[in-house]
Amino acid sequence: MTQDILREIIDYSNRADPYPLYEELRKTPVFHNGNGGPYVVSTYYEIQSLLHDPRISSDARNLKAAGDDPLGRSEEEGTTLPPSFLKLDPPDHDRLRRMTNRPFGPPHSPHRVHDMLGELGGLVSGLIEGIATTGNLDRIDLVDQFAYPFPVSVICRLLGVPREDEPRFHVWAETLAASLDPDPDADPAQHGKGAVDARMELGMYLAGLVEERRKDPGDDMLSQLATADGPDGSMTTMEVLSTSALLLIAGHETTVNLITNGMLTLLRHPEVLQRLREDPSLSVPIVEELLRYEPPVQLLPQRSTLSEIEVAGVTLPKGASLWLVLASGNRDPKRFENPDRFDPDRRDIQHLGLGSGIHSCFGAPLARQEAQLALSELARRLENPRLLEDPPPYRKNAVLRGPRHLPVACDAIR
Ligand code: HEM
Repeated sequence: MTQDILREIIDYSNRADPYPLYEELRKTPVFHNGNGGPYVVSTYYEIQSLLHDPRISSDARNLKAAGDDPLGRSEEEGTTLPPSFLKLDPPDHDRLRRMTNRPFGPPHSPHRVHDMLGELGGLVSGLIEGIATTGNLDRIDLVDQFAYPFPVSVICRLLGVPREDEPRFHVWAETLAASLDPDPDADPAQHGKGAVDARMELGMYLAGLVEERRKDPGDDMLSQLATADGPDGSMTTMEVLSTSALLLIAGHETTVNLITNGMLTLLRHPEVLQRLREDPSLSVPIVEELLRYEPPVQLLPQRSTLSEIEVAGVTLPKGASLWLVLASGNRDPKRFENPDRFDPDRRDIQHLGLGSGIHSCFGAPLARQEAQLALSELARRLENPRLLEDPPPYRKNAVLRGPRHLPVACDAIR
């Protein structure tokens, strides 16, 4: 195992196919380069148990010191927004997640998502008709023309953020998504600075909307978060801002990759695409298998240990930084038979694609619904779709991984 494997994971030249690197990594389930760098965990059962371990923290303030990270990852110190619940531990995490759940729908019952089904269908049809009216079916970019605008419109609608402001927060969202990647070559003092500024600007933008909604509430989540007063009391303005920023970014930068990775995988497996075309209900197992096989969130680089912990025979000291490589756990042959095979008929599919434990994806019902609908409609409506570039050009990001463009052609749109 080379000492540089962490750099290789981040290196763009491996973006299109990082899976051979993960296979190499799994030979050492807990890898540490010995220089005070992160402990990288790549096997399914170890990742799963750490995600459920209360001795593991998501709060960046528990890392021994940002400067200890040889890859130069810095923290969010100095931001004007407090950390969102993604980066908090209990009890604050639990309180804020509970309070956010209330307007979104009761726990484990995605009724708000069901209410939105008609609307989601309308958005999907509108975008596919938009592609048809361009008249150019020889070169369609499924990212720019479909997979990006769809989830962005949905999260804007849900939160009550004006869709026409998208060009403004697009830049902040991209900066924040990119900042999740550890940067081996960045100056530790500078790395993360762009993200701090982007977060502050996004916070100020949302503060204006929250003020408006307090005066004149609508049926959107921003209004509900800003005005709700339940058993846990109400959120402070700062909590409303960091929660809505989290939802906006999470709803923005992840589902696009699930839809795009999904179409790419289906175009590489035409027999599955044909089955989906004939039976839209197959989108349910297809999306689960995609979350295992090509997960949009490849790794979680933000955890730390609150005390000394032993994992797979390795002792992690208190304050150690952890990378949990979800995409590698999903391909662990000790957990999944033929893990490198895309197989929507797989019966046993407890993947790590949406995380696990107390931080498991809050937007999971929405993400699943969006991807199921998007893929089944694209399969049904595009006649004889073909990939024009394989592999397609990828986004820079290693953590939130997916194609930047997905050029395809088709004969007609029905
Ligand atoms: C958490 C994946 C879509 C909101 C997570 C986590 C993963 C994930 C892996 C765990 C993070 C951790 O443990 O540190 C995904 C994927 C998506 C998706 C693959 C799309 C395919 C969404 C959407 C929303 C959302 C649409 C918002 C509506 C959140 C939030 C958390 C989270 C708020 C933090 C939960 C917590 O800390 O308790 N997501 N997500 N996600 N996700 Fe998603």
